[in-house]
Amino acid sequence: MRLPLLRYLCHSFFQPTQDLILMYRTHHCGALRIQDVNTSVTLAGWVQKSRDMGGLTFVDLRDRYGITQLTFNMETQAELCAQARTLGREYVIQATGTVIERSSKNKNLPTGDIEIQVTELKILNAAKTPPFTIENDTDGGDELRMKYRYLDMRRDTVKNNIIGRHQVAQAVREYLNAKEFLEIETPFLIKSTPEGARDFVVPSRLNPGQFYALPQSPQTFKQLLMVSGFDKYYQIVRCMRDEDLRADRQPEFTQIDCEMSFVEQEDILQNFTGMFQHLFKKIRNIDIQDIPRMTYDHAMQYYGNDKPDIRFEMLICDLAASSKIGTFQVFDNAEAVLGICARGCGSYTRKQLDEITDWVKRPQIGMGGMAWLRYNEDGSIKASFEKFYTQEQLRAIADACEARKDDLVMILAGDASKTRKAMSELRLEMGNRLGLRDKNTFAPLWVVDFPMFEHDAESGAWFPAHHPFTSPKAEGIQYLFSDPGSVRANCYDFVLNGVELASGSIRIHDRDMQMTIFKAIGLSEEEANEKFGFIMNAFEYGAPPHGGIAFGFDRLCALLLSGNEYIRDFIAFPKNNSGRDVMLDAPAPIDAAQCKELSIQVIV
Ligand code: AMO
Repeated sequence: MRLPLLRYLCHSFFQPTQDLILMYRTHHCGALRIQDVNTSVTLAGWVQKSRDMGGLTFVDLRDRYGITQLTFNMETQAELCAQARTLGREYVIQATGTVIERSSKNKNLPTGDIEIQVTELKILNAAKTPPFTIENDTDGGDELRMKYRYLDMRRDTVKNNIIGRHQVAQAVREYLNAKEFLEIETPFLIKSTPEGARDFVVPSRLNPGQFYALPQSPQTFKQLLMVSGFDKYYQIVRCMRDEDLRADRQPEFTQIDCEMSFVEQEDILQNFTGMFQHLFKKIRNIDIQDIPRMTYDHAMQYYGNDKPDIRFEMLICDLAASSKIGTFQVFDNAEAVLGICARGCGSYTRKQLDEITDWVKRPQIGMGGMAWLRYNEDGSIKASFEKFYTQEQLRAIADACEARKDDLVMILAGDASKTRKAMSELRLEMGNRLGLRDKNTFAPLWVVDFPMFEHDAESGAWFPAHHPFTSPKAEGIQYLFSDPGSVRANCYDFVLNGVELASGSIRIHDRDMQMTIFKAIGLSEEEANEKFGFIMNAFEYGAPPHGGIAFGFDRLCALLLSGNEYIRDFIAFPKNNSGRDVMLDAPAPIDAAQCKELSIQVIV
């Protein structure tokens, strides 16, 4: 029988054990098979459903491991059968009986060859009718299922995600432990860590008017652990960031946070390529070959973003040289003219083209329109802007995008960074429409040579592209103040199918260099000492060269186990899109007495 991936994992990792001393049950609901016929057993679990078939009553009993059918015979066990008929969905029961062979077998259930002829039935706890059906195809909407998350997790789909997550965590530990990494916990009540989001803060009762920050990551602690000499550290750790939510972002999420001493970038890339290969082999039995590397500049130029989905080509082409020839103002006046070539889409109808044009005009993409060019079967070229160009000039544009017969070139023109961003989105959208982003194809990638700083146009300030503990590449040090935009960092990202799975860097381990970087991002010596004096002091007591990386564990689980980036499905108790826990109804106001105790005043 072919089981879906997550069910397969659950069955293969957790063969039911019978060596436990079980007071309530002798077996799990997924354990019994044809060879167990005639065995006396006691099972306990939840009523999935029951069916009255005249003389017989059937109850599907469910637990974490599976479903077993219970049978009650009206003729021979009238009283028991009557009791079984009172059972509602989700009642918790205990049933004792004998395993018998089923007359009509269910090939879809691992226990489908047998059933239990019940001789004793005990209701352990009655249950109200659940607010949605506890089945794979449930009738419950998102919010309702979040409110009753404990019921949602009884459903196979969610339950198997959570079990899958456990297995990924074990496989991570297995790999890192074998490489002599130490799992070390770091504190949650700390001072701000600069990862670029807002902090969640916690008022201190004992220190009126003062606040802890919850860690956005254990960044500074893991560096201090290197100073302590621990050499290889990891932690599967919760991080908290007050930022806008998306499919792949939660305010609390989990990282596989790692740090190593006496390493260069190459050591880190190789070690974590190995971890990724181990996880895919262990969890999905997929062999991942060498992982390609791409520079940040290349990614931006050809994919329009720093986390390229390389499952498909459709590279972004610069059409400025071929299109800005003084005949068409829209192109001539644009800072950038970019195109992508969709193979085999030359026969798109007007309606299809209009639909894509509307798509790029949506506020989320924000372009004024889209130009197109298609290479007909007979070799002629048709374009939405053809009256401004000769056939030969149109061919030059088509050639710049390497278009061939029956291809469609989509062109966006405008402000350079906005157009590149929009083109990147359009490329992904076309990838979706053309089925080029198969969720069972995995295309990992290392992106390297990131810029050290990013420029904030509004404030005019430079801020660290990764975080301020990242070391600059040696050749850029002389330009830290004169041309910060040109400086590259010893920084790398791990990207899978267009999702940033991990980020890391080789760190600064020298006090003076650290102070120089703080100055370059506009911190005065005083501010730098006040905020980060502790780590700069540590650098004066023999800090080894070190570097590290952190994987987004929720993202890793979602991609590895389902091929998509919806991390909520892989978190036992996630927050909704507005950052609320709808089950607890949190966040919530606190009462006046508590505010007073914490010396805080609430202003709304
Ligand atoms: P960074 O901030 O890039 O680096 O985070 C590392 C990885 O964590 C994941 N991630 C998230 N996942 C879910 N929800 C979020 N809100 C969220 N934010 C980040 C991403 C990301 O790649 N201290 C550095 C790492 C280092 O330098 O070693 C750090 O935290 O997958």
